[in-house]
Parts: sequence; structure tokens; C-alpha cells
Amino acid sequence: MRKILVTSALPYANGPIHIGHLVEYIQTDIWVRAQNLRGNRCVYMCADDTHGTAIMIRAKKEGITPEQLIGRVHEQHLASFTGFGIHFDNYGSTNCQEAYETCKEIWAALRSAGLVHSKKIQQLFDTQEGTFLADRFVKGTCPKCGAEEQYGDSCDKCGSTYSPSDLINPISALSGTTPELREAEHLMVEIEKLHPFLTEWTQNGNHLQPEIANYLAGFFLNDALNDWDISRPAPYFGFEISDAPGNYWYVWFDAPIGYVGSTREWCTAHGENWEDWWKNPETEIHHFIGKDITYFHTLFWPAMLKVAGFNLPEKIHIHGMLTTNGEKMSKSKGTFIKADTYLKYLDPATLRYYFASKLTPRVDDVDLNFTDIREKVNADLVGKLVNLASRTAKFVKDLGTSAVYPEDGGLFAYAASLADEIGQAYEDCDFAKVTRLVMTIGDRANKFVDEKAPWKLRKDPDRQQELQDVCTIALNVYRQMVIYLAPILPKLAEDSAALLNENAADWTFESVKTPLAGTQVNEFTHLMSRMEEKAIEAMIEETREENKPEETPADAQSQWDDSAQPLEDEPLEAVCTIDDFCKVDLRVARIVMAEEVPEARKLLHLTLSLGGGVTKNVFAGIKSAYKPEDLVGRLVVCVANLQPRQMKFGLSEAMICAAGPGGKDIFVLSPDSGAVPGQRIH
Ligand code: MSP
Ligand code: ZN
Repeated sequence: MRKILVTSALPYANGPIHIGHLVEYIQTDIWVRAQNLRGNRCVYMCADDTHGTAIMIRAKKEGITPEQLIGRVHEQHLASFTGFGIHFDNYGSTNCQEAYETCKEIWAALRSAGLVHSKKIQQLFDTQEGTFLADRFVKGTCPKCGAEEQYGDSCDKCGSTYSPSDLINPISALSGTTPELREAEHLMVEIEKLHPFLTEWTQNGNHLQPEIANYLAGFFLNDALNDWDISRPAPYFGFEISDAPGNYWYVWFDAPIGYVGSTREWCTAHGENWEDWWKNPETEIHHFIGKDITYFHTLFWPAMLKVAGFNLPEKIHIHGMLTTNGEKMSKSKGTFIKADTYLKYLDPATLRYYFASKLTPRVDDVDLNFTDIREKVNADLVGKLVNLASRTAKFVKDLGTSAVYPEDGGLFAYAASLADEIGQAYEDCDFAKVTRLVMTIGDRANKFVDEKAPWKLRKDPDRQQELQDVCTIALNVYRQMVIYLAPILPKLAEDSAALLNENAADWTFESVKTPLAGTQVNEFTHLMSRMEEKAIEAMIEETREENKPEETPADAQSQWDDSAQPLEDEPLEAVCTIDDFCKVDLRVARIVMAEEVPEARKLLHLTLSLGGGVTKNVFAGIKSAYKPEDLVGRLVVCVANLQPRQMKFGLSEAMICAAGPGGKDIFVLSPDSGAVPGQRIH
């Protein structure tokens, strides 16, 4: 019997659980249930990830404390998970005492291993929100490969990691403004010192899927690992660093420690010793995560565990992202579906089964196609599985199963023979294979029932034994299928056990090898309905409605995305008073003459009319962007009282206003139509 501790990534406490998250929690829940069903001792720990800027900002927006926010979200998350039959042995919070204790322990280990030093760091600061920006709150262009729209911590495209201030054209996701660099003292972990260990651990073929090992090898094998910036200055919602007051552990430091914190909480409640789980080579640790957080779990986390003398993960199981109908989940298309919305319209078993049928050991993205899910659920769960019971159970409600298990042409033996293969498929996270194998049993069993037609036998008083035998066979094979699928469909397993007068909690994979004979069969109750297109449509419609954008000034602003434009390299000038401004006499002027200055590379010679017969002679550096003939007749903005300047080619008496960096990108300003030369600009 193996002793296994399993975790899923800790969902952020700043939003609801959606169907994308559920890929992971359903996958993990299935794996844990399968381990227990195979006779291992397997516990499942999770928690909310509560620290960081996002939660702080969200709470501020709602006018509540971060603690109130995370308390509320904790309840909501747990309710959504429970609704989907996801069973945690403990669902805690990273904001708990046990997690804090473990942070201190691991921190002390990093310190005494000489891995921590401090460094002045320039970090992006959102002046509008008054806070330093967490990595994921800055987006911009990857400094390594130039991919746009990358987060501040790592690049999806090339896999490199960097600090947000390295991003080109950074934008705050909080306010859409361009953040400014501010300096503060940070604590850095020199992870490069663990490079040899990490190379061995990631590349030895034991802990990671091959494509993940290759992906990591691709960018860190030959490059030194950057120091890891592990602290954030106040204001920050998190744990204050024990020996560096005013600084907080960066959320990604204490997030995985939440796995340990949750375990400790559970151990305290159940009279267990947490070190038996985390510092005991007999225990296997398995993490389930999405590919977007690979780096944190395959490099930083093993490094922290190693230094602190904790168990290293036996395996990190990494899944791909959920897409819907082949595209990214979309709020406007109504496919960014919240767990609770799904529960309102559809049976959670449908999603559990569908995801299972799609999950393999590979890291591929998982697509939820709304036609496909309906067809699969109706064909497999209703057509091949539940149908077996619904077509037979009622005929033996009073009789029960036959006293001796009848001759069935090898049906039962076939199903029983799949036990090891199915068990191994669960172990390998190949749930797609599990569903395929189980449905081969369903195909054979339904063919058998069709041929024997119990609904006809029932009408023939001489064939009642045959009727009981046929139903006994169908129900036994149904039971085998349900036991195999119990990790995927725990609710159906419970209901089916009740029908067969058993208790699902007593089932193991061994139970498929002994048939029921001479047992009671209870009243057939409804087990599962067909999935209706209308319900799916209603769910999508509700999601779309929920996400209808209200037109806010912020949205309007983002429509043009001016925020992506840097404030050139020039910072704003010092404040000028209205009196200062009035000293500059800006006038509407018309260009009445424009010609090239042959000896000057950049200059055009212009004559401006200011009305009333007043003209000004101007040499303007706009030759690279304008042809003289295109300018004649245009209205422009002119600085009319500028100190005249003697140039090589003549006297320049004014200036016209233009924007842009130069070269082809020069943009001469002009007033809206209606303005006339000579009007003053205020
Ligand atoms: N808080 C971090 C994890 C800390 S673990 C020490 C986090 N939270 S999350 O809420 O964004 O995501 C939680 C898990 O759900 C991650 O493993 C993530 O990959 C997974 N998913 C979130 N959205 C997903 C999809 N759209 N598709 C598949 N999995 C997704 O990351
Ligand atoms: Zn990149």
C-alpha cells in the first residue's frame, strides 16, 4: 500500500472557479479516487492562494478587507468544488498559521544555505493605484523574443523569465496606465547554485512528462538561472518576512508552501504528524498543475524543498489549457463558463466524464466542444452505461439476482480481465483510455441485452428464469463498468451501489472480479438524463449576459489602447502655471507658401499668414515627412511670439507645432475646421 499525498494548484482567491480550472481539479480528483480504489492511501490537499496584489486591489475596490474577501471566496470555491464532486481531504488557505510557520522554516533554510542576498531593485509602480505591480499585473513585449502581450514574469512564446521592468512597453493591468520605475530593496534567492541539482532532477526521466523535461532543457540547461526576487515591499497583502520588516514574501514563495500548510492543518485535525507526509521518503508527493505555472513548480519549488530537506515531488503532472469549441474561452461568446453556472443548467457528471474522455498523459490543450460533449454523454453514459441498468433492473426488483451467476458467454470475464490495464491507465493519467476500455464492455453488454430482449422474456411465463439470468448478467456487467468509472462518476457509483444493495465505499478494483448472485435489487431510481442542447444554450446565454460589457470610460480608453504608447522618452516637464502658459502666444495660422531649402537636409521654408496681413517667416524641420505642395493652404498651430532666430538661410520668426519622434513620423497639428488664421489658442 502506497502512501500518497496529492495536490492541485491553489486557485487564486480573487475570482470564481470556472470550467478551465475544473480540468485540473477534476483530473486530480479522479486520480486520487482511483488510487484509493486501487487500495492505496491517498490524500488530497488544496487551499486558496490568498496573497498578493490582486487580492489587495480587489478588496479595496469592494471596500472590504482582504481577510473578508478571502473568507467569502473560500466558501464559494469550496461550494463549487463540492458541486462537481471534487473531494479534498483538506481545503485550506495560504493565509494560515501553519503555512506561515512553514514559510519561516524554509526561509531559514535558504538563509543558512547562503542563498539569500539583498539587492536594490527597480520595480514598476502604478501611480494611479498607489502600489508596486505584481508580475502578472504588467503586460508588455518580451525582451528576449519580442512577443507581444506577455506577462511580467515569463514569456509564453519563448519560455524565458525576466523581471517586469525588463518588459518593453509595460502597461499596468490595474489601471491601463504606464507604470513608473521605483527603487526598493529586495531579497534575492540565488537559484543558480542549485543548477546541477535541478538539471538532474528535471532531466532524469522520473518526475516530469518528457515534453516538459525537454521544454525546460531548451532554455535553462545552458543558461545560468536568474536570481529569484522573493520579496515585495509594503503595501502588500501577505506574510511579513520574519527577518526583514516592511517586506513581504512574494506570493509565489508562499503559494506552494500552502500545500504543506494545508497538510499541517489536516494533520492537526486528524491526529497525524505532518512530517510523516513531507519529510518521509516513504510518502509520494504528486502535484497536479497547468502548464502555465510549470516554471514555479519544476524549478523554484523543488529547489526550496531540496534546501529545506523536505520530500521532493515524486511526479508533477502537467495538463494543458482548456479551449472551448477550438478557441480560447471567451466572455463575449459565453464560453467563459463559471462552475456555478454549469451546475445550474447541467449535471456535473457530464463534465467529469467528458474531461476524463479527453485527458491523456500528454500536455496537450483540452477542447470542450459543446456538440461533442452532448453526443459523447448521450452515447456513452446514457446509451451504453445507464441503459444497461434501466432496461433490466426493474424486472428483477422482486426476484433479485440469480442464485448462481449464469453462463454469460465470457462477458463478465472480459470485463474483469481489464482491471490491471484500467488501473494502470488511471495511474498514468490516461483517463481517455479508461473510458475507451470501459465502453468496449458496454458495447458487448448492450449487444447481449438487445439479443436477449428481456422485455419480451418478461411476457413469457415459461422463461422467467432466463429473464432473471439475463438481468443478472446485465446488472453485473453494469456494476463492473460503474466500479471502473467510479473515480470519474462518484455520484453515479453511489446511486448504483444503492440500487444493487451495496455500498460504494466498500468497492475496490478487486470487486469487479466477484459477481453478485442471490442478492437483492432495489427500486430503480433515475440515474442520469440525456444532455439537451437547450440547456447548453441557456448556460451559454447566461454567461454571455453576465459578461455584457458596461461602457465605462476605462473601456473606451482601452478601445484605442493609447496606454500602449509610451510617454516617449521625455518625462513631463515641471508644472507650469496658467500664467506661464499664457506667455506662449499660440495662434491659428495658414501656410501660404512652402518651399524646399536645398542646402538643408531637414528644413522647409514656410510663410505663415496670421490674418490681418501679418505674416511670419518660418524654417521648420519637417522636410522628411511633408512635401511643400501638400502643405500650402493648410491651417496649423503656430507659436507666434517666439524669439526670432537667425539661421544660415534666413530669419525664423515663429514655430509650427508638431508631434512625433521625427523622420517619417512627424505630425503637424491643425485646428478643427471652422478656425481661422489669427485666432488665439488657449
Ligand atoms: N494561484 C496559482 C497557483 C499557485 S499553486 C502553488 C494559480 N491559480 S489559478 O487560479 O490561476 O489557476 C489554478 C490552476 O488552474 C492552475 O494550475 C492553472 O493552470 C489551472 N487553470 C486555470 N485556468 C485554466 C484553463 N483555462 N485551462 C486549464 N487549466 C487552467 O495559477
Ligand atoms: Zn519571449
